[in-house]
Amino acid sequence: MAKLSLRDLDVRGKRVLVRVDFNVPTEVRGGKTRVTDDTRIRESLPTINYLREHGAKTILMSHFGRPKGKPVEKYSLRPIGEYLHSLIHQPVIFSHDTIGEVPAKIIEHMENGDAALLENVRFQPGEEANDPEFAKGLADLGDLYVNDAFGAAHRAHASTVGITKFVEQSAMGFLMEKELKHLREGLENPARPFVVILGGAKVSDKIGVLKALMGKADVILIGGAMANTFLKAQGIPVGASRVESDKVDLARELLDLAKERGVKFLLPIDVVEADEIQAGASMRNTSRLSPQHGISDGWQAVDIGAATIALYQEEIAKAETILWNGPMGVFEIPEFGEGTIAIAEALAQSGATTIIGGGDSVTAVKQAGLAGKMTFISTGGGASLELLEGKELPGVAALTDKN
Ligand code: 3PG
Repeated sequence: MAKLSLRDLDVRGKRVLVRVDFNVPTEVRGGKTRVTDDTRIRESLPTINYLREHGAKTILMSHFGRPKGKPVEKYSLRPIGEYLHSLIHQPVIFSHDTIGEVPAKIIEHMENGDAALLENVRFQPGEEANDPEFAKGLADLGDLYVNDAFGAAHRAHASTVGITKFVEQSAMGFLMEKELKHLREGLENPARPFVVILGGAKVSDKIGVLKALMGKADVILIGGAMANTFLKAQGIPVGASRVESDKVDLARELLDLAKERGVKFLLPIDVVEADEIQAGASMRNTSRLSPQHGISDGWQAVDIGAATIALYQEEIAKAETILWNGPMGVFEIPEFGEGTIAIAEALAQSGATTIIGGGDSVTAVKQAGLAGKMTFISTGGGASLELLEGKELPGVAALTDKN
């Protein structure tokens, strides 16, 4: 069902509650919290600026970290509010309480076009419990509700779901719309060949996505530690590599399913093996993997190998649509990041529609300085995976239906 968009709302002079996802990476330096990746904040600017320009009173709310229902100083949103101030060149009034008299007073004095930020919704136990009383406390602060927190849309919490029951109209923000457009509509009828690249540590995290995309993708390329479980399922020795032993049978089933569905399902044909997972470890490219020649005893796969990179590059070059989620190796350690960077570069050069589905692959693309070369980079981790699995996101389902 189509949902109301921010554009459908009459916001002038109204108090508009906007759920954003300001759960951004930060570091503490010189006693001050600094934002180290402001993508999520910048991506909410179209919604925030639209509301300011259309004379709304914008009341922003977000979670930050996992403070478990009580105030934790390091998860205060105050520094994020100051950062937003520097981006929009307008004060962002900060309310140190999330609901109640303090924010109510602040909002009472707001002029049209002003922006305020409430303290971390997760400082309140009612947020994650989706407690109706807390949800109502939030709703009482505004007239209309906009959800622009794609990254948190898979959570059924008070500020993403409960609140919608206490406001007259609730709508998608522009970031939410953009994410759904690329990750849902964009992949419904992808231009073919449609190549999906999946990596990361665990098969178990990607089962749903694999199953959902098995019927849609023409080619699936596997990397990261999750590849080891598939290699083991094929009888290839994996040495001391990380493997999910309880998922080997499932990996075999997934390989069978790929065959049944006519999907070209490719696993690494060689890997980079290291004697330990840390910078400066001894490392070498294995020869072609087979049940006779696997990863050496005591060594671990840390990246895809040179032949695999070449093989995957060929598939990427032929693709019209590419979806990528999860790194090809332990890319946080630069020596083990070559495969991941090579894939990012291949995508950047491909001419295909390239969609980066959130999480660590986004970090890799940014580190490689290639973010500007991708068609779309999702701001959601768990949310984008759930969407790709074909699940309905509670934070979207709860919004007002169009008509
Ligand atoms: C994220 O960073 O993926 C979102 O902000 C959701 O955070 P959460 O996993 O703590 O709910």
